[in-house]
Order: sequence, then C-alpha cells, then structure tokens
Amino acid sequence: MCGIAGYIGPRNAVRTVFEQLKLLEYRGYDSAGIAYLANGEIRILKRAGKLSALGKAVEEEMPEASQAIAHSRWATHGGPTDENAHPHYDQYQQIAIIHNGIIENYLELKDRLAAEGHVFRSETDTEVAAHVIGREYEDGLPLEEAVSRAVHKLRGAYAFVVVSKREPGKIVATRNASPLIVGLGEGEQFLASDIPALLPFTRKVVVVKEGQVAVLTRDAVRILDSTGRETEFEPMEVQWDVAAAERGGYEHFMLKEIHEQPEVIRQCLLGRIDEAGRIRFENIFSDYVWTEIDRINIVACGTAYHAGLLGKHLFESLLRLPTDVFFSSEFRYGDPVLSEKSLAIFISQSGETADSLAALKLCQQRRIRTLGVVNVMGSSIARECDRTILTQAGPEISVASTKAYMAQSVVLALLAFYLAQVREAPGVRVGEGVEELRRMADAAKRVLELEPQVRELAEPVARSPLVFFIGRAADAHVALEGALKLKEVAYIPTQESPAGEMKHGPLALVERGVVAIAGATDAHVREKTLSNMMEIKARGGRLIAITTEDDWSCEQVADHVLKVPKMRFDFFSALLSVIPMQLLAYHVARERGCEIDQPRNLAKSVTVE
Ligand code: G6P
Repeated sequence: MCGIAGYIGPRNAVRTVFEQLKLLEYRGYDSAGIAYLANGEIRILKRAGKLSALGKAVEEEMPEASQAIAHSRWATHGGPTDENAHPHYDQYQQIAIIHNGIIENYLELKDRLAAEGHVFRSETDTEVAAHVIGREYEDGLPLEEAVSRAVHKLRGAYAFVVVSKREPGKIVATRNASPLIVGLGEGEQFLASDIPALLPFTRKVVVVKEGQVAVLTRDAVRILDSTGRETEFEPMEVQWDVAAAERGGYEHFMLKEIHEQPEVIRQCLLGRIDEAGRIRFENIFSDYVWTEIDRINIVACGTAYHAGLLGKHLFESLLRLPTDVFFSSEFRYGDPVLSEKSLAIFISQSGETADSLAALKLCQQRRIRTLGVVNVMGSSIARECDRTILTQAGPEISVASTKAYMAQSVVLALLAFYLAQVREAPGVRVGEGVEELRRMADAAKRVLELEPQVRELAEPVARSPLVFFIGRAADAHVALEGALKLKEVAYIPTQESPAGEMKHGPLALVERGVVAIAGATDAHVREKTLSNMMEIKARGGRLIAITTEDDWSCEQVADHVLKVPKMRFDFFSALLSVIPMQLLAYHVARERGCEIDQPRNLAKSVTVE
C-alpha cells in the first residue's frame, strides 16, 4: 500500500518525485525516501515520519539530478525507522530499489544470502529483494534482464522501481499484483503507483501489466513481456481532475475503501498461507502458548469492537474457547476478571485509540498476554502488545471504517483457523476454512456488483425516520456494524438488536414508513428470523433482507432482497453481508447530502478519553 514515484528528464528530478510523493501521501505515510544519481553514485535521502521530514532534508541538501525514484512507506516488514525506509541498496550499492508489496519468501532468501556473506541494514523484505536483483546484476546483464531474472526467485506481491549507477539514464520497473503506471512526456518520463501522482505532469499514461518490465529513458519507454520480448502498448488519456484522482476516481474515500475490500482480503492473507495450505504468522506466540490459552478477552472500540464480536462467534463456535468482548472504555475502569492463562486481543485500526491503550496498560500491569490486531504498523498498540498481527489493509482515510472492519474480521478468522491447526481442534476442517478464506476476495467482488440495486434503495431509506437492523447469530453482530455505518454517515437514527429481542421492546417503535434491514444469511436460524421479519411487516415496516444466493424464502416476506454468495461457514456469508450495508449507508448519506468522509462530531482516531 506504499506510494511509488519515478522521474527521468530535464526537470530537477528530486523535486519532481517529491511533488509526486505529496500526491500519494494517502497511500502510506510512516516514512519516505528518494534515490537519485549524482556524480556517478546513487545517493539516498530517507526519513522516518511524515513526508515533511523528508521535505526538510530535500530543502537542506537541494540535490540536483536528472533521474530519481521515491517512495512513501506503509510499513509491513520492520517498523517505521530511517533504516527501514525505502529506497534500499543491494550488497554493492550498485543499484537502489523501491517496492510496494510483500515478498513472502524473503526470510528464506535472506538466510541464503547471509550465508554467502550479504549484510543487511534493515529488517525489510525489500532490502532482500534488492540483494536478489543485485546478485543477478553482478553477472553483467543489462538492468532490465537482471530484474526480470530476479523476480522469478521472489514470491508475493510487488511493484519495483530500480536504478543503477552502472546504467545512468535508465529506470527499470516491474510489477506483480501491486499497481504501477508509466506517465509519458516529451523528453521526460514518469512512474507512479497511482494516476494522481502523474496528473500535474502528464495525462498520457500506460498501465503496466502483471509480469511486464518497463524501461524508461528520457526519450522513450519500452515495455517488455516476462520473456524479455518488447511488446506494443497503448497509452491512455486520463480525463480525471486531480482531486478525484486521489480518490482513485471515486467521489469519496468511503466508496473507494468499500470497493478496495476484495484487494484488502487478498492483502490480509498474503504471506500467511503456505503452499501446503497451512496457516502461519510471523513473530507470533509459540505453539505451547496457543495451547495453554484458556480464555480470550477481546478489547476494542467502535467498528473494531464489532469485528471483535465476530471473533467471539468464531472462537467459541469453532474452538469452544470461551471469549468475551469488551468496549475498551468499560474494560479499563471495570476491574475485569482476568485468568492467568487468558489472552487479551486488542483490535484497532489506528493503534492509537486512548481507551484501548489504557486497557492494554491494565493487562500489562496484570501480566496478561496481549495480542494486537492493528492496521497501522509502529502505532502505540502495535508496539506495546506482546505480539501483533497487522491487518495489512493500507491507510483508511474515511472516518467511517469499512475496509478495516473487513480486514480485522478476516484476520480473526485466519487466527481462529490457525488456533484450530495448532491445537488440533477436534472436528474443525482447517483445510476447508483456508479454502473459504481464499474464496472470500472473489466473493466480495461479486457482492460489490449489488451496488446498483442498493443505490435504488437509498431513497426510501433516506426518508425513514428510524431504521431497524436485525439478525441472529453472526448476522446479529454484522447488524450492529450496518447500523453504526448508517448513523455515522447518514445521521439516521437506528435501532439494532438480535432479531429475537425485537419483541422485548424495540417492536414498540415499528410503525408505517420505518425500514428494517434483516440479515438472514445463516440458514440454521433463517426461519426464526423470517418470523421476526413478518412481525415487523405486519406493523407497517418496509423490509430489506440480505440472504444467500441459494435462499428463496426471504422473497416471500421482504420487499427487497439482496443476495450474497453462500459460503460453507456461516461466518463468511454474514461477513459478506456487511458490504451492501456499507454501500447503503454511503448512498443514503449521499442522497441526504451529508459530509461523507468527515461526518459531523466524529474523528478517525480518538486519542482522548
Ligand atoms: C473512531 C473511528 C471508528 C473506529 C473507532 C476505533 O470512533 O471513527 O471508525 O472504529 O474509533 O478506532 P480504532 O483506530 O481503535 O480501530
């Protein structure tokens, strides 16, 4: 999820790539760096922290160069430090590279290279890739060929940009799964991970395809296929305005982030399922610890708390492992009963939420094991927990959290199946779980196709004075998140509760004109939910049901039915049903003319009590 930029031509290359980075800051912002060629050497300027820290270094040194590459980092391997910031050199400082993605087999490659005498200065997978490319380059091959050969040794997702002091006047780039765009100019060429970083300079772009290698010189761009053969390419003329481009062409970050979810699911799984289909986590507790744990306490706020509820559902149903979920603000002052062998899991997108941090300190004082499930690497919660699993969702800009919820839930599912694997949980089909996790990205993509149907529902929902969200089992947990989205961005009062609880109070609020959204993806309890839906309908409520593709019973009762793919584990179908709810909240908010990315009174990161 990092930002990549490159330039070759008559402008001041360092300033140009820095300007590009400013337009990519939303992709990652924990450190940044630039490599440029000057006096036959590659010089690197890099700084941890916000882009302004690098900006200061650029101002102080005022380097002049005609070719440069630059990177803004969203840390995945190694904390956000100067050393871990990109670019990275190879062993002999012949080349420098920047990278967006994750190299899954970097540890194995690092060990092999270290045994040959390679010395590494950072903890990153990128530096290992630099050494792998550098090693191929030692044979005297042209840079593009060395890059092409080296990437066959790498497993994972990447977009690389490479410069060499042996071949000044050339920039080489390649990609697999991570984006890479070439910008074409007159006597100058550009590279970026996203179109916005090209628009102030050129609107003529080429999207590099997977496995292709782009070779940039001042006057020309060549695109090679994976066998090194030159291929024809068709430049595209971009019509976007700059502001829309930052949002990838979407009107709001919230919508962009909703649509990023298939990719986020892939990122979450990346490097965590090996070829044999076994789940693995880096730097995690030993198998002994996982077997010893007798209870889990999940602590979080807001959307992260809702993901925690799904986690409880899985830990208990799959593993029979007692699990409680707490709001951080209650946990910290609640004098919780914590058993010695328990594990406290802290879920947080930002890793900086004040109440969650305070709750974490309480666990540390009580010497309870802690695990973070955090999106921002190097954040306080990620640093303070005994162990941390990163959700790898990339920066989330919209205040209302969408893709982070998906990532947190997928990580919790992965963790539950991992525990089943380690503890050899009786009756749990870990292989099937892994298969389902792998199906999730495509399934999420299919659910996004419901958007035109959801958009049509926005108008009646926008007029409803109160919207009910109901469901049973995992659907009841997702209902809470659906309701939170609607009130956060569309300011519509909601009443959310397990479907069976309606009769104990909320039903009194049902009257003609209200809308109820019923999650009915779980076939085991669907009939029961249908009865509750009928009770709402009988009192004049309008019903929107979300069910699975194989179900035809909801049509009998609901006014509108939205269908998500049927998954083998109910948890996954329920999780998919959050996507139409997110889309509905978005389109209702749009219908009502709300400030979608920055809802009134709310903040992205709540760092005060
Ligand atoms: C705020 C945000 C929510 C988020 C919650 C917890 O309320 O607006 O989107 O779910 O904080 O934040 P965290 O960063 O700890 O996940």
